[in-house]
Amino acid sequence: MPTLPNPSQDARNSFYITTPIYYVNARPHLGHAYSTIVCDAVARRKRSQGIATWFLTGTDEHGQKIERSAKLAGKSPAEFATAISGEFRSLWDRMGLTYDDYIRTTEDRHKRGVQRLFAELHDRGFIYKGSYTGQYCVSDEAFVDVPPGAPCPDCGRITETISEENYFFKLSAFERKLLELYETHPEFVQPEARRNEVTAFVRSSLKDVSVSRTSVSWGVPVPGDEKHVIYVWFDALVNYITALGYGSDAPEDKARFEKFWPANVHLVGKEIIRFHCVYWPAFLMAAGLPLPKSVIANGWLLFDKTKMSKSVGNIVRAETVLEVLGADALRYFLLREISFGHDGNFTFEALVQRYNADLANGYGNLVSRVVNMVHRYFGGVLPETGPMGDAETSIQNDAGLTIVEFNTQFEAMDFSRALESLWALVAAVDGYLTASAPWKKPAEVSDEAHAKTQARVLATAAEAIRIITALVHPILPESTGKVWLQLGLGNIEEAAKRGDLKDLAWGGLRAGTSFAEPAPLFPRAEKDAIERMQSLESGNNLSAVAAVSGSSGEASSSPVISEATAPCSGSTEAPVHAPVSEPAVPAASALETTAAGSDAAREGIAQIGIEDFAKVELRVAQILVAERVPKADKLLRLEVDLGYEKRQILAGIAQYYEPEKLIGRKVVIVANLAPRKLRGLESNGMVVAASIGDHGAPVLAGFLEDVPIGARLK
Ligand code: ME8
Ligand code: MG
Repeated sequence: MPTLPNPSQDARNSFYITTPIYYVNARPHLGHAYSTIVCDAVARRKRSQGIATWFLTGTDEHGQKIERSAKLAGKSPAEFATAISGEFRSLWDRMGLTYDDYIRTTEDRHKRGVQRLFAELHDRGFIYKGSYTGQYCVSDEAFVDVPPGAPCPDCGRITETISEENYFFKLSAFERKLLELYETHPEFVQPEARRNEVTAFVRSSLKDVSVSRTSVSWGVPVPGDEKHVIYVWFDALVNYITALGYGSDAPEDKARFEKFWPANVHLVGKEIIRFHCVYWPAFLMAAGLPLPKSVIANGWLLFDKTKMSKSVGNIVRAETVLEVLGADALRYFLLREISFGHDGNFTFEALVQRYNADLANGYGNLVSRVVNMVHRYFGGVLPETGPMGDAETSIQNDAGLTIVEFNTQFEAMDFSRALESLWALVAAVDGYLTASAPWKKPAEVSDEAHAKTQARVLATAAEAIRIITALVHPILPESTGKVWLQLGLGNIEEAAKRGDLKDLAWGGLRAGTSFAEPAPLFPRAEKDAIERMQSLESGNNLSAVAAVSGSSGEASSSPVISEATAPCSGSTEAPVHAPVSEPAVPAASALETTAAGSDAAREGIAQIGIEDFAKVELRVAQILVAERVPKADKLLRLEVDLGYEKRQILAGIAQYYEPEKLIGRKVVIVANLAPRKLRGLESNGMVVAASIGDHGAPVLAGFLEDVPIGARLK
């Protein structure tokens, strides 16, 4: 488990936490919300502990990927970036996230700082001019060390060959220093699995890295050499300091930089750890600037078993959950369900199940029982506890232990266990209430004695609720605000500022406090909640994908090759071709060049004249969407772009190709095949593939040279 660097060791008593700045190529989804929510919860907790906290988020707006997405949307990059950046920001606002600053890389304050750092590294001799010929992954905005035509080793997407003049950063000079950093400061990269990954990467030797592009124009110009724009990852990483004021000489900027840099936590998704743990510290070392205390990686939120991602098109939007269950439900679910640092599955079923069990029937129900009874039996004024019995002492002890456990687990970013511990207390208090049954007066007990019991039980339960509420406030800010009001404690944000939520001890809720009217916290989610969320999501992915796949492949200049490792599963089922059970079209065999094209394999195929071949309309198409078809384990549903039109094709290649790796790929299709229905879905054409081995493993046809979409094969 990762551990948060302990901020109390910092003499400045400050805490700076950042999210990645998100690409504006498409709208935000739950994956982005997850990282941002984690930071918000941590920031809220630090603030309530009286630590000066700065929480930064923002958007990454330059580079080829955005340039292309904008073009696809028919907008200028600036216009496009502003629109999507605004969507991120308004979503965070709608969710009540307490970021202190929101940086856009297109802002002047940022561009100025980026240029300053670039010039500084150049002056110090760490940047030199050279040229790069090799592969580039537009989706990851990464120079990748693979042969031409090979897919990106990280995301599996098409890479493009670029050959251009670049400035290089002397990364190779930092190999030893970086290894030393990981060794002497193991907390720098967390969790441990990520540290091992980064260490292995650096050990395998570091090459100098390009830090400018000449074939891209949407970026920050290199100072003094404006035909170059600064490489988007250099540009992006620097946001963490430009947002604090690096690059500005204004006294307030300098002061903020001094107060908060170095960052305590850069929270990032695990796929961008290399940029943050290798490039970023090397840039800072080269500039003589202090290094962040830690880079902590969250795992991936999966949906349908694959990473939720705009380009795969399996996203769920936060708005959907907000609309049906509210922001707190989403926060609780993500932090409770996912073991931080690991991948975790998102399903609507699990979300609703947790919501009902833990929030509606758990915490929410407990609060409403107690607040209602204080109104019913004591006119809404909290009574004196009176002498405590064993049951009360046990609750008090439980609460004391829970405070320690929760704090330790939260500080270790083990949010799931922290909440589990806290909910054990919710259950204990609930059980205590039920066992004490203050609503039932036994016949032999006097009214007076019964009132004492009621007072003791309700005051004890209410005090436990106060502690639970104070602890969980950073995770459930909105509902704990309501509970705090109901307990007659006023505004919880104010209480947090005063330090009332830290150093919790039993007995904070005073007798005589007037409770506010009970108000519903978490109305039970009915059966239709899942359907409502599903229907809010339907149709959402189509447009999201179209926006991005074009961006990662639209002007692809790289050869398309078949997956090198399309596995031959050895399955005994019928050969899969595209679409399933479609009879082989002569054109397909004309392209066969493997053993399957031998005389023996060709037995029974008649010769045709050129006019027969001309009847087959073969064309180049680009895959925009690829997804599995439920209950059909061989089928992928593809949406392909022919340039002049888009269409849906079902292809029997699901056992050999991961759908997400197909996005952006150019394939050959038979465009004039009569439409047919498979599993109730219409297939308009057929993808051409070589059929390999006994089981007919498909290997998609492609080209070594770049070919425009829609081009006819003849
Ligand atoms: O990488 N599960 O931006 P990005 C968990 N601009 N977290 C997820 C997620 C998922 N399925 N999907 C996205 C970039 N995230 C760069 C960063 S920083 C200087 C530049 C979160 O829009 C996670 O934090 O691709 C991940 O690292 C980030 O969003 C990637 O967002
Ligand atoms: Mg990404």
